[in-house]
Amino acid sequence: MRSERVPEANTAGPSTALMRKAYARWAPVYDVIYDKLTEPAARAAVEAAVEHGPRILEAGVGTGLSLGYYPKGSFVCGVDLSEDMLKRARAKVLRRGLAHVHGLQVMDVCRLGYADNCFDAVVAQFLITLVPDPEAALSEFLRVVRPGGGIILANHFGQTNGPVARVEEIVAPLCTKIGWSSDFKSTRIEAWARRNSVEFIGVAPTFPGGFFKILRMRKAG
Ligand SMILES: C[S@@+](CC[C@H](N)C(=O)[O-])C[C@H]1O[C@@H](n2cnc3c(N)ncnc32)[C@H](O)[C@@H]1O
Repeated sequence: MRSERVPEANTAGPSTALMRKAYARWAPVYDVIYDKLTEPAARAAVEAAVEHGPRILEAGVGTGLSLGYYPKGSFVCGVDLSEDMLKRARAKVLRRGLAHVHGLQVMDVCRLGYADNCFDAVVAQFLITLVPDPEAALSEFLRVVRPGGGIILANHFGQTNGPVARVEEIVAPLCTKIGWSSDFKSTRIEAWARRNSVEFIGVAPTFPGGFFKILRMRKAG
């Protein structure tokens, strides 16, 4: 899956610089904190993605925690803004012999350097709420996914109502510190899907206690 643009040229801007700086600090400790916590969601996202076919883009692949969950015979590309995170992903690929991973590149998910319709699915785990323009990222995912392909998100999304929504309001300041905003509801993505004639398959709760969700969409085709 050859990229067509020069990734570094697509990643300028103040929020990009801040994100890189933040993840340069996170990179050395990221796996220790997140590996076990996000594993069930990552496995569920990978399983949902490969149902669409073997050619997968991991958007915001980070340190590559989920790369080992893809089956042999898949063809996985990964992109991320942070070279510090990607370095760790590349080391993992080498250390574990993950031959299904075919490229880990610095790239902004809002300006993907891939051709239209070239992946069976795009997976974005714990990414979408960090992007300043999530709809621009979703539109890029839609562009690079083939007709009938999948867009799979794993994330914490805030509840729109009910007792869990009240609890989220209370813990919001703490969650914001670690990048899990409950302000971002899955209904925002559902609205984007409606506007773009994308089938919204649904949102499924996962570990821990439904706090993380797997959101699935399919491109018309
Ligand atoms: C919370 S980490 C998740 C990493 C990985 N998906 C995981 O589940 O372990 C978020 C990642 O998204 C990346 N990121 C944030 N904004 C991005 C953007 N606009 N384009 C590409 N990557 C981005 C960060 O550099 C970071 O590696």
